[in-house]
Amino acid sequence: MKSLDHVAIIMDGNGRWAQMRSRPRTYGHIKGARVAKKIITCAADMGLKHLTLYTFSSDNWLRPKDEVNFLMTLLERYLKKESHNLYKKNIRFTTIGQTEKLPNSIQRSIAYTKNLTSGCTGLEVCFAISYGSKQEIISAVKKIASAVKDNQLDLADIDEDQFSQSLMTTGRPDPDFVIRTSGEYRLSNFLMWQCAYSELFFTDILWPDFTENQFTSICKSYFS
Ligand code: IPE
Ligand code: IPE
Ligand code: MG
Repeated sequence: MKSLDHVAIIMDGNGRWAQMRSRPRTYGHIKGARVAKKIITCAADMGLKHLTLYTFSSDNWLRPKDEVNFLMTLLERYLKKESHNLYKKNIRFTTIGQTEKLPNSIQRSIAYTKNLTSGCTGLEVCFAISYGSKQEIISAVKKIASAVKDNQLDLADIDEDQFSQSLMTTGRPDPDFVIRTSGEYRLSNFLMWQCAYSELFFTDILWPDFTENQFTSICKSYFS
């Protein structure tokens, strides 16, 4: 019997959604953040155990400075406004990615939200922020190589489990289902090791148009 415990979403299409309305890309990001908030609540209500949201990729740092700053402000605003709602809804907030690259004030908001919700037992929502799968894999390789060099690990003991434990996602199940919006058919450096056996679902819907109904019906389609 198939079970759906972990859904990961590549939330894409904010910029195009805004451009289609002759508005700045930032307008799409504002709408996109509202959609993310609704989908998190919907996932918690569905009884899903893990939801991973691709929030900001390591490549997204290369976007124009104004857009990066805007996305950082939006993230901080989200955390400040939502941390107590997450707690009330029994949702545990976690992150993967090189969060040390984020502005200090966001790092503090992340730490606060993680700490506040650490005992929550419902949905785990994991934000992939400043995340890149290749960077994650390289950092795991470095950790393992240094353990071998220091004689703490035998070469013969390196296997899939050992490697998984060296990734940022250690302790979590791999995604069962990956959804990407906006009609792009690629992973864009997202959870490449962890998605080895995940089912993939691509939809043309732009992220700001994505609804709870679409989310639940896509999740249902996983079982058919
Ligand atoms: C996804 O939307 C949000 C982030 C990557 C932060 P985009 O900003 O990539 O929107 P498009 O793909 O340009 O339409
Ligand atoms: C992937 O979307 C990253 C996020 C959704 C946060 P991008 O729009 O940045 O990826 P590419 O440029 O289409 O590969
Ligand atoms: Mg995009």
